[in-house]
Amino acid sequence: MPPCGDGPHIVGPGREHQVSSYRGVGSEVRVVSVSSLKGGVGKTSVTTGLASAALAAGVPTLVVDLDPHADASTALGTSAGRVTDIGRLLKTARRARLADHLTPSSWADGNGTLDVAIGSAYSGIYDRPDLGRRDLRRLRQLLEPVTGYDLVLIDCPPSLNGLTRMAWNASDDVVLVAEPGLFSVAGTERTLRAIDMFRREFSPRLNPAGIVANRVRLGSSEHMYRLDEMRSMFGPLLLEPVVPELANWQQIQGAAHAVHQWPGDSAKGVAAVYDQLLAAIRKA
Ligand SMILES: Nc1ncnc2c1ncn2[C@@H]1O[C@H](COP(=O)(O)OP(=O)(O)OP(=O)(O)O)[C@@H](O)[C@H]1O
Ligand SMILES: [Mg+2]
Repeated sequence: MPPCGDGPHIVGPGREHQVSSYRGVGSEVRVVSVSSLKGGVGKTSVTTGLASAALAAGVPTLVVDLDPHADASTALGTSAGRVTDIGRLLKTARRARLADHLTPSSWADGNGTLDVAIGSAYSGIYDRPDLGRRDLRRLRQLLEPVTGYDLVLIDCPPSLNGLTRMAWNASDDVVLVAEPGLFSVAGTERTLRAIDMFRREFSPRLNPAGIVANRVRLGSSEHMYRLDEMRSMFGPLLLEPVVPELANWQQIQGAAHAVHQWPGDSAKGVAAVYDQLLAAIRKA
C-alpha cells in the first residue's frame, strides 16, 4: 500500500493505513458526490468506473453507497458480513464509527485499498424533500473522523432529495452524469441550478467538478447533436473524454469486476477513458 500522507498509522478494515484526514478538517482527501436528477443515466457506473481507475492508479479510495438500491455495493463485490449498512449508521451518526463498518471490495483482492460503506434500503428513510439541517449533517459527521483514503466517491440516488443533499453537504465536489438525450440534458441544467442554490444556502466550498457524458453512441447522429448541445451549454464543465456505450458493460457489472480487470480492447478503451476522467476530476 503506498503511503498517502504524513498522518499517524491506524488500523483500517483488514489492513494498516498511513492516514490522511478529511479535507473538511484541512487535508487532501477529496470527497466527490456522483449525482443526477434523472435515474438510470449511469451514476453507479461512473462511480464504479472511477473507483476502478483509482484502484489501478493506487489511490486509496472509499465508496459510499448512498442509493437505497445498493447497486454499487453489488457491483463492487462486497459481502455485508457483520458490518452495519450506511442507512443504519446515518441513524446513529453521532455515535457510530464508520471506519468499523467498511468492507473491502473484492476488486482489490489484497492489492491496493478500495473499501465500501455498503448501501441498503434503510437509507431510504432520509430520502425526503424536507430534510432539516441537522439531518443533512449526518453523512459529514460519519466521514469526518475517517482516515486512510485519498478519495471518497458517493453514489447518490436519482433525486435531489435528502440523501443527495446529505451527500453534497459532505462533499468537496459534485460530478454530474448525463446521457446525451433531450431530457437528460435538461435535467443536468436543473441539477446545476440546485447545486448553486445548495452552495449558497449550506456549503460554499461545494464545487461542480464536471459533467460526465455516459453511454455515448459515437455512431449516432442524435447523440453527436446532443453532445454538441451539451458542449455549448456547459462549456468546460462537460468533461472529456465521454464514456462510450459498451456492449458488455452489464456483464462486467454483473460479474462484479472492475473494468480495468476485464479482458478485451473495448473494456481497455473504457478503462482508459475512466483514467482520464479521474485525473480531470482530481484536478478540478
Ligand atoms: N457506458 C455504458 N455502456 C453500456 N451500458 C451502460 C453504460 N453505463 C451504464 N450502462 C447501463 O445502464 C444501466 C443504468 O446504469 P446505472 O445503474 O449505472 O445508472 P444509475 O444512474 O446509477 O441508475 P439509478 O438512477 O437507478 O441509480 C445499467 O444497466 C448499466 O449497466
Ligand atoms: Mg445507481
